[in-house]
Amino acid sequence: MPRNEKIGIVGSGFIGRSWAMLFAGVGYEVCIYDIKAEQVSAALDDILHQLKNLHKSGLLRGKLSVEEQHKCIKGATSLKECVSGAVFIQEAVFEDLELKKKVFHQIDELVDSNTIISSSTSCIVPSKLSSDLTNKTNFIVSHPVNPPYYVPMVEVVPAPWTSGWF
Ligand SMILES: NC(=O)c1ccc[n+]([C@@H]2O[C@H](COP(=O)([O-])OP(=O)(O)OC[C@H]3O[C@@H](n4cnc5c(N)ncnc54)[C@H](O)[C@@H]3O)[C@@H](O)[C@H]2O)c1
Repeated sequence: MPRNEKIGIVGSGFIGRSWAMLFAGVGYEVCIYDIKAEQVSAALDDILHQLKNLHKSGLLRGKLSVEEQHKCIKGATSLKECVSGAVFIQEAVFEDLELKKKVFHQIDELVDSNTIISSSTSCIVPSKLSSDLTNKTNFIVSHPVNPPYYVPMVEVVPAPWTSGWF
């Protein structure tokens, strides 16, 4: 069953696409954004291709069909469109501290205190990414194992101020 909850994915490269497919597999409304508009349309095409291949090989996750899962994923033309109203945001931009900090500041200004802000970072500790965010208690690192769609394991790392952890 499709869920009436939105997930924002920021960055539509290898990892962002895989996250989008995982959330769509259980029916979330996924909105994916990239700084390069052409990356978003390439991602939507590639996701459809991947879902069809997964179906053919008997590896498609969830109970929704390929078409239903693909319909759950929409491309966004702005960061605001991607993150507004989302219950959970998964960042998947390049592994660059200053870039990620800039992106999290932009996200922080667009969300309220009900949104969880999550990073895919492989190597950066969550405190460095979130220390001066207004919504820093909602910040978490969710680092997927590669390839995320196939390996159901995520390393979840809180910052010292992440609510509900200590
Ligand atoms: N590839 C892996 O094996 C792997 C595994 C686990 C975690 N990660 C982490 O996931 C993150 C993404 O890695 P990837 O392999 O998908 O990279 P990638 O290069 O495939 O994709 C990064 C995407 O971010 C986009 N981007 C750059 N600046 C942006 C901005 N300001 N706003 C929106 N989009 C922007 C780029 O255009 C690109 O499409 C990194 O932090 C990486 O360390 C990667």
